[in-house]
Amino acid sequence: MPFTSNCTASAIQNAANALINGDLVAFPTETVYGLGADAANKTAVDKIYKSKGRPADHPVIVHISNINLLDKWAKEIPAYAIKLARTFWPGPMTLILPRTELAKNFITGGQSNVGIRIPNQVVGLTLLSEFEKLGGLGVAAPSANRFGAVSPTTAQAVEDELGKYLSSNDQILDGGICEVGLESTIIDCTGSQPIILRPGAITAAMIFETTHLEPVSSKKVYIKAPGLLESHYSPLAKVILDQTPEYGDGLIALSNIKTPDGVTRLASPKNNEEYAKILYQALRSADEQSIKVVHAHLPTGSDIAVAIRDRLTKASVKIS
Ligand code: TXA
Ligand code: MG
Repeated sequence: MPFTSNCTASAIQNAANALINGDLVAFPTETVYGLGADAANKTAVDKIYKSKGRPADHPVIVHISNINLLDKWAKEIPAYAIKLARTFWPGPMTLILPRTELAKNFITGGQSNVGIRIPNQVVGLTLLSEFEKLGGLGVAAPSANRFGAVSPTTAQAVEDELGKYLSSNDQILDGGICEVGLESTIIDCTGSQPIILRPGAITAAMIFETTHLEPVSSKKVYIKAPGLLESHYSPLAKVILDQTPEYGDGLIALSNIKTPDGVTRLASPKNNEEYAKILYQALRSADEQSIKVVHAHLPTGSDIAVAIRDRLTKASVKIS
């Protein structure tokens, strides 16, 4: 079992040392908790794959604390990607860029590109910068859940997901609830035009406003981010979209929608941002209450609602 520590200076220092030593540290970001390892250490990164039960060809995002480290991992960075970086980092955005020698196959799943992100969460950022002070160059971190399951947005959720798969040297840094609640927007910046591989809090409109380039978001290119299989973000419960719940079912919907008799209300967010923030906790709480069927109302709009619809649609696909 790993141990959970708070976010005092000494706890963060200790966690940075653990990363340098090749141990795993689950840490908060503004999107979801990541399961971190030294991105230059193959043995450490292998532990991530093992504890998540994740196939080896799925690339992991490298997290850095500041833009000075970008050139270490990525090269031939197009001008529009620089604009995105300076506008939205630190923030809920991952850029896919041509990799340097430092970004080995064990990080990129054998692809010639690497995913990079500067997160915007004070504990996570401090951890990254302490790690860098000790000579580290980047922290590889997928979401801290078992492969295909719901991403954790609290330290407790990380413990519930991965506790028994982590060792006693590994640790979880408790930085509170993740503010955004859904994973970062992934933007492929390897071509002449940005391509949205995964929608998130940085929307297509925001990308256009910054780059003056129309971002493509096609289902076809989705396969470039293999973690984004059709079924993903899936709780144990069956997720049904936009139907009427029956007695004993759970319901996630905006607060203006009433709860039918005999239905367990799992979340009543007031707006789309709140919906994103509490969605994964609501899905988790369905499983904790042994609710077998969860109904979710898809929010409308072109803001973070796009990402909510994406995750809920994937959560609703069960591949047996
Ligand atoms: O918000 C986030 O992005 C969180 C926090 C911890 O930063 N991380 C996260 O990581 O969601 P993960 O591994 O659960 O999802 C990242 C997705 C995966 O589907 C992976 O396939 C894709 O990003 N990805 C990573 N590197 C890539 C690359 N070089 N090319 C294409 N896709 C990549
Ligand atoms: Mg994930």
